[in-house]
Amino acid sequence: MSQRDPAAEQLNEYKKSSFAVNGEKKNVWLFSICGLVDCVGDQEQKSVMTTGYGTPVDSKTSTLTIGRHGPVLLQDSIFIDEMTHFDRERIPERVVHAKGAGAFGYFEVTHDITRYTKACIFSQIGKRTDLVVRFSTVGGESGSADTIRDPRGFAVKFYTENGIWDLVGNNTPVFFVRDPMLFPSFIHTQKRNPVTHLKDADMFWDFISLRPETTHQVMILFSDRGIPDGYRHMNGYGSHTFKLVNAKGEAFYCKFHYKTDQKIKNILSEAASKITASDPDYSIRDLYNAIHSRNYPSWTFFIQVMTIEEAKNYRFNVLDVTKVWPHSDFPLIPVGKIVLNRNPSNYFADVEQAAFAPNHMIPGIEPSADKMLQGRLLAYSDTHRHRLGANYLQLPVNCPYRVGVINYQRDGPSAFHNQDGAPNYYPNSFSGPEECPKAKIDPFDVNGIVDRFNTADENNFEQPRMFWNILKDDERDRLVQNIIASLQNAADFIQERAVQNFTKVTDEFGSRLRNGLKIALKNKASL
Ligand code: NDP
Ligand code: HEM
Repeated sequence: MSQRDPAAEQLNEYKKSSFAVNGEKKNVWLFSICGLVDCVGDQEQKSVMTTGYGTPVDSKTSTLTIGRHGPVLLQDSIFIDEMTHFDRERIPERVVHAKGAGAFGYFEVTHDITRYTKACIFSQIGKRTDLVVRFSTVGGESGSADTIRDPRGFAVKFYTENGIWDLVGNNTPVFFVRDPMLFPSFIHTQKRNPVTHLKDADMFWDFISLRPETTHQVMILFSDRGIPDGYRHMNGYGSHTFKLVNAKGEAFYCKFHYKTDQKIKNILSEAASKITASDPDYSIRDLYNAIHSRNYPSWTFFIQVMTIEEAKNYRFNVLDVTKVWPHSDFPLIPVGKIVLNRNPSNYFADVEQAAFAPNHMIPGIEPSADKMLQGRLLAYSDTHRHRLGANYLQLPVNCPYRVGVINYQRDGPSAFHNQDGAPNYYPNSFSGPEECPKAKIDPFDVNGIVDRFNTADENNFEQPRMFWNILKDDERDRLVQNIIASLQNAADFIQERAVQNFTKVTDEFGSRLRNGLKIALKNKASL
């Protein structure tokens, strides 16, 4: 027994916690309430099973039949209640980031940034705000392995007194493409081939090599950080450029970074393959056990700040999510920390139903004009209405419980907070909620020609080159080997195009890939 970790012990722990505390039973529906005390009898330590509509279940092991061998009666409402609920258990999994793990905790302010933002979460040093985090892989289905090479999602929901702020970031500071129109295609290339139902190296490398703006993110993905050791040993980045607005109405651009206090730790490819085979849920287990053992993971939260004037004159488009802001020009400013100290009490309710959306922002934090971010402002709430239903914001994990929602939205499926007799139209003369002009966004100028602008070629290789330059020799070796291991499975002409792109990062990178591919293909042929 002592060998079993907390995750393995979960059911035993439930058993202990659901029994009598100070003489009263916990978590149980006492049968004596409806007068059927005799049903409890000497099994008094057990609760009584009910149907979904609350009536006692006399048997959970036998259907109601005519005779021993059937048929089953339509009047067996216990069976019908059970089976029809089971038939509806699965909701659609997330179209991306389907496999994940979650935990609750808090954000604490350690440094004053009120000169940049009036956002209530940052109002005072020492202030704590509750949050929930969901970590994820991106391309795989919800049953896929945790230790595959993939970006990791790092989404944070802050329950502030001004409503929900969702910071839906990844463990990489950049993204593959810079126009949201490309996102569905890009994701299709990560998913299964529509005929073979297999992951397809041609699909992936064809797209990547046709859109060289992917180079920066692809290099990070195939570097050691492409397989972090669980979720505790990786950084998070808001990635996009956001806008902060202070109490005087002054706006600044900003990037969010949350750096692991557990230190960066990665798993090398070979070791990761072994874990994939032996423990595909490695990262979920690691997070659960750490928090259960009170080894609470934390991240130090930083911002980078740029004035709107600086942005206008900077040497590249600072709203481009395929690029970082160099630290030497825009140093990290410490803000606070994220601490995770509570496991979900129910995975489906707390994690699967969690809905993070980049358009959930609070006064003092606003979107920039980054096209990708603008595309995301639509996509998430849209998919939530599909995945969870129109009233998904009423679910406990999503609801802004510190505010108490009062508005003019009504009805729809599962509307359990339907605001009683309050007026459902505005304006009205019957004490309905009023507007709050102070919450208005920072007014800003926009002008330009309306058109569809091709973003394929906007300085695609300078920052990948900076990335190559920060890698140590052994890290470069592994980056090259990891790319070869994947790229060798694509068609020859696609390999050639990809190598040509990487050659634009540095000649050395390109030639090492070209030579390595030749050897790998020769080895493959001799098998
Ligand atoms: P800096 O030298 O100031 O910063 C380098 C950054 O790279 C640090 O944030 C560091 O993260 C991260 N890093 C260090 N080693 C690795 C590695 N092996 N794999 C992935 N990331 C690593 O440089 P710049 O700001 O000028 O950026 C240079 C390059 O660094 C960029 O092109 C980008 O690819 C990468 N980078 C930059 C970030 C930024 O916001 N500027 C953020 C992350 C990466 P850590 O401190 O956690 O080790
Ligand atoms: C999940 C769309 C870019 C991080 C999702 C989901 C969609 C989506 C539809 C599923 C949400 C759900 O079912 O709850 C898009 C689009 C993008 C984009 C259209 C670009 C145009 C990005 C970027 C990042 C990111 C740039 C990181 C910086 C995440 C994360 C999740 C997610 C972390 C999982 C959230 C969770 O844990 O529930 N995305 N995405 N996405 N996306 Fe994106």
